[in-house]
Amino acid sequence: METLFKHIKGLVGAYEKAPKFLAGDEMRSFSVIENAWLSFKNGRINGFGNMDTCPNVDVNVVDCSGKFVLPSWCDSHTHLVYANDRANEFLDRLRGLTYAEIAAKGGGILNSASSLREMAEDDLYDRSLKRLHSVISLGVGAIEIKSGYGLSKDGEEKMLRVINRLKEASPIPIKSTFLGCHAVPKAFDSASDYTDHVVEDMLPDFVEKGLVDFVDAFCEVGYFSVADTCKLIEAASALGIKSKVHVNQFNTLGSIELFVNKNALSVDHLEVITEDDIDALKSSMKNSTPTFPVALPICSHFLGIPYTQSRRLIDEGLPIVIATDHNPGTAPSGDMLEAVKLGSLKMGMEPIESIAAGTINGAAAMELQDEVGTISYGKRANFIVTKSISGLEVLPYRLNDVVVDKVYVNGEIWVG
Ligand code: NIG
Ligand code: FE
Repeated sequence: METLFKHIKGLVGAYEKAPKFLAGDEMRSFSVIENAWLSFKNGRINGFGNMDTCPNVDVNVVDCSGKFVLPSWCDSHTHLVYANDRANEFLDRLRGLTYAEIAAKGGGILNSASSLREMAEDDLYDRSLKRLHSVISLGVGAIEIKSGYGLSKDGEEKMLRVINRLKEASPIPIKSTFLGCHAVPKAFDSASDYTDHVVEDMLPDFVEKGLVDFVDAFCEVGYFSVADTCKLIEAASALGIKSKVHVNQFNTLGSIELFVNKNALSVDHLEVITEDDIDALKSSMKNSTPTFPVALPICSHFLGIPYTQSRRLIDEGLPIVIATDHNPGTAPSGDMLEAVKLGSLKMGMEPIESIAAGTINGAAAMELQDEVGTISYGKRANFIVTKSISGLEVLPYRLNDVVVDKVYVNGEIWVG
């Protein structure tokens, strides 16, 4: 059955021929067609335009007067597969311990790794599927999910298998990232020894089994060095796999230029950044696919660390991406709308820029731009329909109002 939305107050991100991503000033002009129509059939978009061109056809017509329609969120950075919450560590933090101090006493990633080890794979899958369904209800229409709480070959493979099962069961596209270098397990003397194990004993096998779309490393003081991270990126690249890197979360390590030169698809976090890092990101704009800077504002909010300077990065001409970082330690939320609102509330972005960062640019940072991220012919009919609102600025402005009316997935109402 074909569905036709009529009288949409603003159809966001609609393109006859969509750009792959938007950078700098372009982000402010993410397309909005006023008084629009949109049609879709068999789960795919098959037409849109201004009401002047609306077809007069006998289909399922939905009146969208006063409402905006947006492409669903594209969350390009999550750790959605995990065993248990770490709410107890949150209490430790309130009592004065830092992220590093909590990790040093066996909390943090090592804590998640031990609960994951004990949990049966089916349980892990069930919990993760529930989380996936709940973020789809919040309007997520495509998602990346990382391993990284396994910290052993068996553990990492278990996570990647769970991600693969989620892919099969999921109504939305999922990309799987092998976060091989996340923390150093106790059995290893050094990060570099563990990196060798990851690169030699895990990566080729997991790639051969078709479990890996991207690789990732936590490049940070006390975790993995720039050299370790480069070793993983290079090994992955030799196998045709692109990388995404956790970097500049707490310390700048002067590594962005190297990662850009090694064609990383994205560098994520960037709560701290240097002028050289910004220059390196700008230099990547000459490549057909740049290295995307990914801001994770829920992590900044939750940990009370600086926000990524997204306003500055846009003003420098860069294609900023916003994602959730959904994980039990530093961002216990998969709410992309919240992340997008923080774009305006804390990172100085105009609502339309923030929406572009969480849709079209998020899709490109997962290489899913042909499927999702804009309203375009043939793309998935994954949208968010708002309630009747005066403008997109209402999203961040009405801090806690419920602004989402309906979520569509593959042309069907998922909630609403
Ligand atoms: O993106 N920083 C590294 N990894 C995650 C946190 C993982 C955790 O604490 O469980 C992040 O913030
Ligand atoms: Fe992360």
